[in-house]
Amino acid sequence: MNEQFRVFATCDIGEALHLLRNKGYEVEVYPQPEPPPKALVVEKVRAGIDGLITTLRDKIDAEVFEAGKGTLKVVAQYAVGFDNINRADANRYRIPFTNTADVLTEATAEFAFFLMGAVARKLWSAEHLTRENKWGYWHPYLPFLGDEVTGKTIAIIGTGRIGLAMIKKCTGFDMNILCYDPAYQNEAYVRKIQEVLNLRHAHGISPERNWIKYVFSIEDAIRHADYVSVHVPLLREGESPAPTYHLFNERTLRMMKPTAFLINTSRGPVVDEAALAQALKENWIAGAALDVYEEEPLPAGSLLRDPAIEDRCRLYPHFASAGRITRLSTDPNKGMAGRCVQGLIDVLEGNYGGDPAEMPYVVNKEAFGK
Ligand code: GLV
Ligand code: GLV
Repeated sequence: MNEQFRVFATCDIGEALHLLRNKGYEVEVYPQPEPPPKALVVEKVRAGIDGLITTLRDKIDAEVFEAGKGTLKVVAQYAVGFDNINRADANRYRIPFTNTADVLTEATAEFAFFLMGAVARKLWSAEHLTRENKWGYWHPYLPFLGDEVTGKTIAIIGTGRIGLAMIKKCTGFDMNILCYDPAYQNEAYVRKIQEVLNLRHAHGISPERNWIKYVFSIEDAIRHADYVSVHVPLLREGESPAPTYHLFNERTLRMMKPTAFLINTSRGPVVDEAALAQALKENWIAGAALDVYEEEPLPAGSLLRDPAIEDRCRLYPHFASAGRITRLSTDPNKGMAGRCVQGLIDVLEGNYGGDPAEMPYVVNKEAFGK
């Protein structure tokens, strides 16, 4: 029998919360679809909860950890990204926090892939034409054409889990692949993908022998790419020797080919939106498809909403992981919800000998090693 743990969830994450209730946990859920005000989170933590379930919408920092001093044992983040959690503060208070990596890798990569197709083949403009009854004739090139994805060159910026999954999907489209990561290279994976590309060509499945390689500057990746897909975590100045904040800015956007497309499913602040809006308006690049923004939800006055760039700029509501299984499965190997509650349970129930450094879903292991 467990002691009765108390948990506050800043958002309903579905069935998985019953798993906790069935174990005898007392679970309170913030009932609105919008995130709770920070003051409310602090108040709940101060009231002595053991575990806090958060989403990327909640800012978790020293103020929250201070309120939970002596009582708060874990923050379980329902997301792979955790730039909303101040890691240094968590470490100072020695509070482990968990994330939901792995289970959203394929869903996010396939969404990035679909965005690429949507913007390049002009799916949105083409559907509007049909729906608004402006499709007056079939014609070889009027009123517009799109650009193919098959056989093109893509730059994968960030070769963590999601970047590697994107690479895997691109191989099926006979793409050439330039990889760049400011912090982490997986040469072994890239070698295996090259073997797959060789085999596809040898068996006559791909007409050309496609290639994949790492390059060691962002310039070398993006100068020659038809598509640039971003898969880095958001790291601000001071958080890493290789910060990613505004990695895409006027300088780097100007390096892209005028025929190239930018896809961002990582974090909004990795792209300088003012520079991107200008890039689209002045045709430095051909188009962009975004799932994430500097401010979310996207403000009414965002430059990205400019009707002048609407046919080249696809905008989605931070939706890449939003598949039914990925979001809600209670299986920690399939769903964010299942993995989130399992991370919380591991810490509260002292699994893995009670050592957070040994727990698979704990992010800030460095705060607990001996
Ligand atoms: C979503 O953006 C996530 O980080 O899981
Ligand atoms: C197009 O529909 C074609 O038949 O080529």
